[in-house]
Amino acid sequence: MPDVELHLPVVNSLLERHKGSAGALLPILHDIQERIGYVPDVAVPEIAHALNLSQAEVRGVISFYHDFRTAPPARHILRLCRAESCKSRGAEQLAAQLRERLQLDDHGSSADGSISLRPVYCLGACACSPALELDGRVHARLSAERLDALLDACREDA
Ligand code: FES
Repeated sequence: MPDVELHLPVVNSLLERHKGSAGALLPILHDIQERIGYVPDVAVPEIAHALNLSQAEVRGVISFYHDFRTAPPARHILRLCRAESCKSRGAEQLAAQLRERLQLDDHGSSADGSISLRPVYCLGACACSPALELDGRVHARLSAERLDALLDACREDA
């Protein structure tokens, strides 16, 4: 089913729910992403019209905030911490391990669609560095072996 038929009713019901509330753009984008998994392009003109903004303004906000996706995510989202404490305790080696196994730099999705990789700058687990977040759950005190086991689990559930 095309995105227009699939996603437009969801977008419109969320816009209706936020009608009249001040500063609604970010809450609307969060709600759309939560329901659909990303912010589909068909949502942009609808949001712009409802909030009396230009489409360029809406697209600018979506691209400014790293948390918003404009395409469906992979089955698992892995965010490796690249901030100081984790860096000083092996995050670079873990990033190299991810590059080798998934053929990805800090961003992007693996060819089999199992994992999307994204950097994050501190997960609040600095005392237990290095850390990552996998599907919203933090894993700390990582080692090469633990990272390998997490990747294996992600790829096995296809
Ligand atoms: S620097 Fe990585 S969790 Fe804080």
